[in-house]
Amino acid sequence: MDLGLSGKRALVTGASTGLGFATAQALAGEGAEVIINSRNRERLELAAARIEKSSGRKPTLIVGDLAVADDIARILASVANADGTPGIDIFVFNNGGPPAGTFDRQPIQNWEASYRLILSSAVEMTRGLIDGMVKRGWGRLVYITSIAALQPVDDLILSNSFRAGVHGFCKTISNTYAKHGITANCVCPGYTATERLTELAEKRATASGATVEAQLQSFAQAVPVRRLGRPEELASLVTFLASNRAAFITGTSIPVDGGINRALL
Ligand SMILES: NC(=O)c1ccc[n+]([C@@H]2O[C@H](COP(=O)([O-])OP(=O)(O)OC[C@H]3O[C@@H](n4cnc5c(N)ncnc54)[C@H](OP(=O)(O)O)[C@@H]3O)[C@@H](O)[C@H]2O)c1
Repeated sequence: MDLGLSGKRALVTGASTGLGFATAQALAGEGAEVIINSRNRERLELAAARIEKSSGRKPTLIVGDLAVADDIARILASVANADGTPGIDIFVFNNGGPPAGTFDRQPIQNWEASYRLILSSAVEMTRGLIDGMVKRGWGRLVYITSIAALQPVDDLILSNSFRAGVHGFCKTISNTYAKHGITANCVCPGYTATERLTELAEKRATASGATVEAQLQSFAQAVPVRRLGRPEELASLVTFLASNRAAFITGTSIPVDGGINRALL
């Protein structure tokens, strides 16, 4: 199936490892010109080398922290066209998760920092990129969130709260900009084998006295397909949503979770 991504310019944030990396790699594999961002240059360079090896396309790197307003301004300036208009066709919003913990374990500073990391950064990045998409009459916005936004997880109160905000934002953007050929969708990962999941398993293991391996096993056992997801499985969906083939799919929130979300809709 030709996804028509050749020549499209895609920015993937939080793309040095895990879900963002797999997405950038899949987009490059489909012929997109990929720009990848994260905070650590060394990890980003390693990611770029892997993407170049698998796709034959060398990604552009932009080091920057999505929780820092000045960094967002710099990321947006560096993807602008020579005439100053935003030059991105496909924006995949991804980043690190906020600290895990229940309500009683989250000081107000964590709420403020998580707002900047998850919701404010999604808004600011979209604000900076959407005019160029309107001008070209084509654009794809994909926000990687979490199944916690669909079915809150008890010890992820910050993720539950701010990702729900991203879903409200995305749905509203989809309604407003559909007439300009722009789609906006959320993709919600369930338990997927990445560094972030190992960190979560370490926290839970410390709290319960179990080993990290046992905790990862217990995540997998909770999933109807009885295994953890693979980052490339989520990346396949994001790549499809970024394509021309998905032009009639907008304003949705799609889980990639092995069936763990038990809700009907
Ligand atoms: N894996 C799962 O099971 C799962 C389930 C539900 C939701 N999620 C969510 O999906 C997202 C991606 O998860 P993942 O598992 O792929 O995580 P990951 O393996 O930890 O990767 C996170 C990526 O984001 C980058 N990053 C982190 N903070 C950033 C920031 N402030 N600014 C820019 N880049 C940043 C990291 O690189 P640097 O550290 O170098 O910046 C890395 O490239 C997270 O928000 C996570 O909470 C994951």
